[in-house]
Amino acid sequence: MYDQNFWNERYARDDYLYGTGPNSFLVEHSDFLTGPVLSLSEGEGRNAVFLAVRGLKVHGVDISEVGLTKAQALAKLKGVEIQTEVADLSNFEPRNNFYGSVISISAHLPSAVRNNLYPLIERCLKQDGVLLLEAYSERQLSRNTGGPKDIDMLMTVDKLKREFPNLEPILIQELEREVSEGEGHAGLASVVHS
Ligand SMILES: C[S@@+](CC[C@H](N)C(=O)[O-])C[C@H]1O[C@@H](n2cnc3c(N)ncnc32)[C@H](O)[C@@H]1O
Repeated sequence: MYDQNFWNERYARDDYLYGTGPNSFLVEHSDFLTGPVLSLSEGEGRNAVFLAVRGLKVHGVDISEVGLTKAQALAKLKGVEIQTEVADLSNFEPRNNFYGSVISISAHLPSAVRNNLYPLIERCLKQDGVLLLEAYSERQLSRNTGGPKDIDMLMTVDKLKREFPNLEPILIQELEREVSEGEGHAGLASVVHS
């Protein structure tokens, strides 16, 4: 259901579905991040561009070429460079021991994809590398403020602990927060942070 066509159609509009400002959890914790940064499901570029403006090298991967074309346009507008790659995370192989950080902001994926990808994410981080993740939690299913309508794609703290067994949490929690990210994410939401 949430395939390449779905996302290309969602992004085929003049404005930015999730706005052009960065995710606020990312902003709050960006001092923890070092480059190069791998951004999973970067979409229209708001987070990659924010990090590039802060001087970090960013590699944004997404299945939607429409989203990533908008990401490059946003980077140009802000006078920065970002590397983008159209790829399906179900068969994406990040370079081992290469990234200082990985960010995953609303990068919701089916468990079958996560089970293959997340061990590779652990391995692609350099020693002391950081994963920063915000995802809608399973509690979000009953709300209409954003996120997939498929419980398998939604997260919990337990899923995070189980799926990243080799990462040591600096912070890991579920909470409710007001999200204001364009038309796509708007209103009170249940999220997990790590
Ligand atoms: C909710 S959007 C979030 C976009 C961006 N991270 C942000 O916060 O603005 C989810 C993104 O996941 C991407 N996506 C979905 N399935 C994917 C897959 N299998 N491989 C790569 N990207 C995927 C979509 O194209 C979309 O850009």
